[in-house]
Amino acid sequence: MKKILITGGAGFIGSHVVRRFVNKYPEYQIYNLDALTYAGNLENIKDIENQPNYNFVKGDIVDETFIYELFSTHNFDGVLHLAAESHVDRSIEDPLAFVKTNVIGTMNLLNAAKKQWKDNFEGKRFYHISTDEVYGSLGAEGLFTETTPYDPNSPYSASKASSDHFVRAYGETYGLPYVLTNCSNNYGSYHFPEKLIPLFINNIINNKSLPVYGDGNYTRDWLFVEDHAIAIDLVFHEGKNHETYNIGGFNEWKNIDLVKLLCQIMDQKLGRDSGTSEKLITYVKDRPGHDLRYAIDASKINKELGWKPSVTFEEGLEKTINWYLNNEEWLKNVTSGSYKDYYKKQYS
Ligand code: NAD
Ligand code: DAU
Repeated sequence: MKKILITGGAGFIGSHVVRRFVNKYPEYQIYNLDALTYAGNLENIKDIENQPNYNFVKGDIVDETFIYELFSTHNFDGVLHLAAESHVDRSIEDPLAFVKTNVIGTMNLLNAAKKQWKDNFEGKRFYHISTDEVYGSLGAEGLFTETTPYDPNSPYSASKASSDHFVRAYGETYGLPYVLTNCSNNYGSYHFPEKLIPLFINNIINNKSLPVYGDGNYTRDWLFVEDHAIAIDLVFHEGKNHETYNIGGFNEWKNIDLVKLLCQIMDQKLGRDSGTSEKLITYVKDRPGHDLRYAIDASKINKELGWKPSVTFEEGLEKTINWYLNNEEWLKNVTSGSYKDYYKKQYS
């Protein structure tokens, strides 16, 4: 039996990865390690919490002693590392929190894996899940490839770039078997409503203003989160050792065009007159250091592992909007803060 550690499994992407691994691989014991910060919500994975191969561990990756003990107790065969501080705006307010979790936390996991596995790397794998933001900003042309030089602009992306470098360094210096992926913007269910798409869906439902940063002419490449989880599964099982793969949606949108599309669909779904939600758009002060454009060339993972997005943006967005409209309780619990009680109710 394989013991797999997934960090950050109560967050947005992590919850989709945990669900996929628990359901698809009954032969694995899955350990979901999460500190349950503001972004961690056990309601995201309540559908699988009673499965016999699922285990939840509440803990902080910054706590070195705890991480060493966890590894020596379980001797994991594989690690999928998703736990992170993930929101760029928060990194501008409090960069040190990002260094602690994203850099020191990753170091603790690397050191624990190295210590635990040092005599035998056979069948072991450390998978670091990262972001396209490490490459900095594109101009109007071009795509990020796996060989694009790192050029991070925000404290968030600088901390992720740093952790990526340490993962590579542990591979080169100590032979630690790793794979690394850099992915574009995800969207889908269980996305914390501080990020553009879920924030704006929630604001439209509640007739609140839609704060578009700057002139809205910033471009992001959007990928449906379940397609990211499929890619992560594939890279974990079939990716080549010591390799990086870029993952993206081949799906670039200017923020303002995306927001207008969201407004149109929401008007239809909510039975409001066309143009109602667009009136909520408010142009606000720009994000400092705002990257102009991200776009991923995902041809390596496509050619080598056969991955490509399985849903179109129209399908993914429709599914996403329907999910938020059908799960108002989830949204209410998150916005009221009552989702924090779930751990106490279930685990203590
Ligand atoms: P998220 O903020 O939704 O979830 C992060 C999870 O990590 C939460 O459950 C939180 O409780 C947990 N966590 C935070 N600090 C911790 C700590 N010190 N110890 C243990 N657990 C801790 O993030 P997400 O959007 O799901 O992103 C997951 C990973 O994917 C991150 O590494 C992020 O950099 C990367 N990524 C995200 C996107 C995206 O569009 N969201 C795109 C590419 C890469
Ligand atoms: O590219 C991958 C990254 O995508 C991940 O590594 C990050 O964890 C994830 O948060 C995301 O970063 P972004 O900064 O691109 O996502 P966010 O949803 O915060 O913003 C998307 C775009 O929308 C960005 O250009 C800023 C803009 N924006 C965002 C918010 C929250 C607004 O105009 N108004 C807003 O209120």
